[in-house]
Amino acid sequence: MKILITAGPTREHLDPVRFLSNRSSGRMGFALARAAAERGHEVTLIAGPVALPTPTGVTRTDVVSAREMLAAVERLLPAHDALVMSAAVADWRPKRNSPAKLKKAAMTPVLELEPNPDILAAVRDLKGKRLFVGFAAETGDPLGEARRKLEAKGLDLIVANDVTLPDAGFEVETNRVTLIAKNAAPVPLPLLSKYEVGLRIVTWLESACSL
Ligand code: CTP
Repeated sequence: MKILITAGPTREHLDPVRFLSNRSSGRMGFALARAAAERGHEVTLIAGPVALPTPTGVTRTDVVSAREMLAAVERLLPAHDALVMSAAVADWRPKRNSPAKLKKAAMTPVLELEPNPDILAAVRDLKGKRLFVGFAAETGDPLGEARRKLEAKGLDLIVANDVTLPDAGFEVETNRVTLIAKNAAPVPLPLLSKYEVGLRIVTWLESACSL
């Protein structure tokens, strides 16, 4: 299969030195990319700003903002069989992105924001027979919220995790997730390395692709 994976956070700049972002390290998406490449798939990775090496055999495109990530997904998706959105896309960006560093005296205490595009929603018309996988990192009712997002975003699979657990979520090498496929009971996985979680997702893609 040809698999397109997004990973890491996005950064939404308000000037060349300041930005809004989130705690995503990119580890889950990079581990998934490595697992998919090792299983013999052709993998393209769209990475937000992260400090991680490119896994062997993976083609990588770097982006900074959500709008750049959307443009890369729109450009690359037609040549792929599956899209896995593991990136933690910033939902909002500052209304103004100044080309010069803002001076304290010129700043106000309120930052005006505007919404970023929802990448999965924006490429829904390109889905066709492609498999779409999303992630839902939640701090309360992970399964209920993940099921809602699976349906709202028209996904085939969503990977739910509770990021309040110390061994799951941000900046750690392990994850404890539940796989929720369309029209199927949730499959809770034990505590696994992010690489092993990646392998389980690849196995799911392989079986869904052969249906
Ligand atoms: N996602 C996306 N574009 C965005 C935000 C999120 O494509 N602008 C994708 C993520 O990559 C993930 C899925 O949508 O695969 C769910 O992301 P999440 O941040 O949990 O959901 P939101 O839609 O932002 O919902 P909420 O903020 O209400 O939790």
